[in-house]
Amino acid sequence: MSNNLISVNNLKKSFGGLKAVDVQELSFKKGELTSIIGPNGAGKTTFFDLISGFQSADSGEVSLKGKNISSTQPYKIARMGMVRTFQLTKVFDRMTVIENLLFSGSNINNDSFLKSFLKLNSQKLYESNLKEKANQIMNDLNIGHMADSYARELSGGQKKLLELARSIINEPEILLLDEPLAGVNPKLAEDILSLITKLSDTGITILMVEHNIEAVMKISERIVVLAEGSLIADGVPNEIRTDTNVIEAYLGKADE
Ligand SMILES: Nc1ncnc2c1ncn2[C@@H]1O[C@H](COP(=O)(O)OP(=O)(O)OP(=O)(O)O)[C@@H](O)[C@H]1O
Ligand SMILES: [Mg+2]
Repeated sequence: MSNNLISVNNLKKSFGGLKAVDVQELSFKKGELTSIIGPNGAGKTTFFDLISGFQSADSGEVSLKGKNISSTQPYKIARMGMVRTFQLTKVFDRMTVIENLLFSGSNINNDSFLKSFLKLNSQKLYESNLKEKANQIMNDLNIGHMADSYARELSGGQKKLLELARSIINEPEILLLDEPLAGVNPKLAEDILSLITKLSDTGITILMVEHNIEAVMKISERIVVLAEGSLIADGVPNEIRTDTNVIEAYLGKADE
């Protein structure tokens, strides 16, 4: 088997007459830290929706670890190890920070209710392990002091951190991050970036959509560029920086 974790083929999605995604071939290797960039409306979020099962494509195929997941539901894809965050954070405002984490973490348990019931003791152990893990993650992300605050009391940046915390509690193999730095102050952005780098160093495969080009250039091993739904460039940061198609997509053609 190839070492591609995710592959897409002829993936298409339109809204009315608008082509949101039209990607012929694109693959991501295990362990890579790739950024997906492109102007507003380029199709980045829709691309994430298609590969994480939150929307279905009009045509084409997505495979994860060699398995066709084109019509697999998001929660099943998450259980296969691919977890995503959202451009607009989706934390549970009426739960506390720790409850948000425990709730997400409880997805790890794939056992049936009966099996869990028969294993009450191990269930208790599992719960205390989960709590320990949640505390560790909160401390790593500097939100430990907010454990018992309601999520709605967090700043926009802290909500981004909480969402990130929720996405890593299940120890995913693949993380899709949609604009993890948007609306985050520069200090917090630095923290988030170093966390992403650390996660990548542990071997997690990361795809990050981000408009902060400086951050993208700094941490990415590879950059994929979308414009009007299509792939227009794919390379290491230095190649992308000087790519004329990319410059045109962002700035418009010189004669326009
Ligand atoms: N549910 C929808 N209905 C109609 N059009 C949509 C829908 N979702 C996305 N689009 C359109 O599809 C195109 C791609 O949108 P998408 O959100 O994927 O872009 P993006 O690259 O994530 O942009 P941004 O950088 O602003 O987040 C845009 O023109 C958008 O208006
Ligand atoms: Mg988007």
